[in-house]
Amino acid sequence: VPDNDILLLTNCSQVLTMTGDGLGVVENATVRVEDGRIAAVTPARDTVPITRAESGHVPAAIDCRGCVVMPGFVDPHTHLVFGGWRAEEFELRLAGLTYKEIAQAGGGILSTVKATRAAAEDELYERGLARLREMSQWGTTTVEVKSGYGLDTETELKMLRVARQLGEAGLATVVPTFLGAHSVPKGWNKSDYTRLVSDEMIPAAAGLARFCDVFCENFVFNAAESTRILEAGKKHGLLPTIHADEIEPSGGAEVAARVGAVSASHLLQPSDAGLKAMAQAGVVAVLLPGTCFFLREAHRSPVARMRELGITMAVATDFNPGSCTLLAQPLAAQFACIYYGLTIEEALRGITVNAAKALRLDAGTIEPGKWADLVVTDVPDYRHLVYRLGHNPVRLTIRHGQVITRAA
Ligand code: NIG
Ligand code: FE
Repeated sequence: VPDNDILLLTNCSQVLTMTGDGLGVVENATVRVEDGRIAAVTPARDTVPITRAESGHVPAAIDCRGCVVMPGFVDPHTHLVFGGWRAEEFELRLAGLTYKEIAQAGGGILSTVKATRAAAEDELYERGLARLREMSQWGTTTVEVKSGYGLDTETELKMLRVARQLGEAGLATVVPTFLGAHSVPKGWNKSDYTRLVSDEMIPAAAGLARFCDVFCENFVFNAAESTRILEAGKKHGLLPTIHADEIEPSGGAEVAARVGAVSASHLLQPSDAGLKAMAQAGVVAVLLPGTCFFLREAHRSPVARMRELGITMAVATDFNPGSCTLLAQPLAAQFACIYYGLTIEEALRGITVNAAKALRLDAGTIEPGKWADLVVTDVPDYRHLVYRLGHNPVRLTIRHGQVITRAA
């Protein structure tokens, strides 16, 4: 009788534990899972320790010959829940319009706001679940999900409830983020809207979200406004995070350091003083190379400088209908290497252990006692995960010891 509470991944060509400073490679290894958690990682030459009586039980075993096994991917920045798409804007951008021009003409985020307000909660859920399933097929086991396409209290809460329900579906761990300060809605001036976000939305969202985010740009919420919103979030127990210095240098990295943000995203044009302050304050940089590519931005995140300053670098997809439609973390890692200049090791840590740090989660590693959130890939050597451009290497996605998705 196979005992479903014990799972062995045997003969793994490499296990990347992500412990220590590197990938923590263990060659020819067995991963033993008990009750959904990692029990041991054992090189083949050692006997797998028996930590539970097995008489009468045959543990379920999966032969992982020729496979790299690593932590399930953590995607620390997504806008997974939204109504509609924006293919027409994509076409306009290819014809030469910029993201900012489209946003200022009332398109961009505001057009998704319209579609999201109009969508029923169960429709948002069904569409979100389909995307989550696709992410799971690409190996994601933890995903951050932002609100921010409601821009009124009712719809912001609707989005956060959908995020929570998506987590309950069990495909992935969902970390909900309140992003009421994503844009200023039609019919509002900025100071009134900022007050609504701080005084009404944040207290209402506090029970549903873990993080508070803001789109900090001179033409959206400037550094002072962003600071006020993130401080209001902190008062209600929401951890600060920020969209910083993406379209224009706007002092976002400085704000991140000043408010003690857990992470700051985008960072295409941070000031050097801002980066130093981030390093000092221990803010994790969340790199979004897919967005940079999708928007054909002129700048790249200054990763060499971040490395020099010892800033922890995570990598995310930024999946959303406007600035990046990528939802596959292996591809984000490929962009991070080829487009930004990360090493393969940095990129793979960026989508696992460092991405977990960006969410202040104790995850993204394979160590005894941790949840068994794992991917089994079809490549024999971790370098192929980046080298095989566009290839989906994921054969199995395992969450809390259960196989969630299996490649055809
Ligand atoms: O992270 N920059 C702000 N938020 C998203 C874009 C959202 C959208 O265009 O719908 C981003 O790129
Ligand atoms: Fe974003």
